[in-house]
Amino acid sequence: MELRGIERADVEGKAVLVRVDYNVPLSGGRVADDARLRASLPTLRYLLEHDAKVVLISHLGRPEGRVVEDLRLAPVAACLADLLDRPVRQLEDCVGPAVSEAVDRGSPGDVFLLENVRFHREETTNESGFARELAQLGDLYVNDAFAAVHRAHASTVGIADHLPAYAGLLMEREIAALSRLEEPERPYLAIVGGKKARSKLGALRDLVPRVDEILIGGGVAFTFLSASGADVGGSAVDEELYEEIRAIQAAAEREDTKILLPEDVVIGVDLSPDGEVRTCDARAIPAGWQGLDIGPKTVERFADRILTARTVVWTGPLGAFEVEPFSAGTRGIGEAVAESDAYSVIGGGETGEAMARFGLVDRISYVSTGGGACLAFLRGKHLPALEALRA
Ligand code: 3PG
Ligand code: MG
Repeated sequence: MELRGIERADVEGKAVLVRVDYNVPLSGGRVADDARLRASLPTLRYLLEHDAKVVLISHLGRPEGRVVEDLRLAPVAACLADLLDRPVRQLEDCVGPAVSEAVDRGSPGDVFLLENVRFHREETTNESGFARELAQLGDLYVNDAFAAVHRAHASTVGIADHLPAYAGLLMEREIAALSRLEEPERPYLAIVGGKKARSKLGALRDLVPRVDEILIGGGVAFTFLSASGADVGGSAVDEELYEEIRAIQAAAEREDTKILLPEDVVIGVDLSPDGEVRTCDARAIPAGWQGLDIGPKTVERFADRILTARTVVWTGPLGAFEVEPFSAGTRGIGEAVAESDAYSVIGGGETGEAMARFGLVDRISYVSTGGGACLAFLRGKHLPALEALRA
């Protein structure tokens, strides 16, 4: 897929509206993981070096059309100013006369950050009047928000009806890296983890015909184990999903796609770092205990499979990696992916965060800034925000 990149635009002296995805975790009023901010820097630096005035648009969380104080972008502006080493002017809103006046008064080299665009309901409903109001703030539109490319919102889709639209450098980089998965070298292996089974089932269903093997860990695994009659003790399971899980397993058999579940797990009474921790058979977890990570035998078996693959995609941690006694599974699998010669892609903020924590990011072929967007791409879903960016 060829995109119309910013190098084709004449940005000198122009006001350039840049849609970024600064939907980042905050903690104590500060940005807790700045990976998405850092990923946007090449585009911002390019525009500033070419004497553009930069106006940034982002969402944060899901405020559902009202102002939520905790979802203001001020902490993001502060963090970005540090990274860029220049002032970033945080505006009070994303549309309206005060905003246009402030932007109009700006000069080439200035950076503005509009307030959370989802404070207006018209953003997610992609209302055309709202898209036009946003568009009036700039001469050109650049979409660098790969992580929101699966959303048909005013700032990702509607706005491009009103302005010449270009793909930012991050957008181009993400699409190039993920496009390599369209004709993958085989064996092609997927690793699927994460807390909630429900959010991963659609992806599993769509991955079955595309990949050769799927390794399942994290919370997802316990619903799979339990659906096949295993005793998973007090682990979180979603019984409503059993039927769909059986359908996925039947499809995997027809397609000759192997699905591997954990054989042993690390269990605890709860998520506390100082409670008693044991390892047991994944199909016989005692009552009152919950599975919180994959066990060492599973790590070994999964690592073995990873080392035979030529292409690996991974979304979702395999255990509660943020709590030390339950981090070994995600770390062990990360080390195997790092060690393998396969083309490896990691999607999702949490998995990327885990790899950063273990110091493994540099040994992964590509770590995507997208979670849902990356999964949508892997599943072959239509990505509405890309349409306006095609060359
Ligand atoms: C993400 O973090 O996945 C993106 O920013 C999209 O957020 P959303 O799922 O709330 O649309
Ligand atoms: Mg999401």
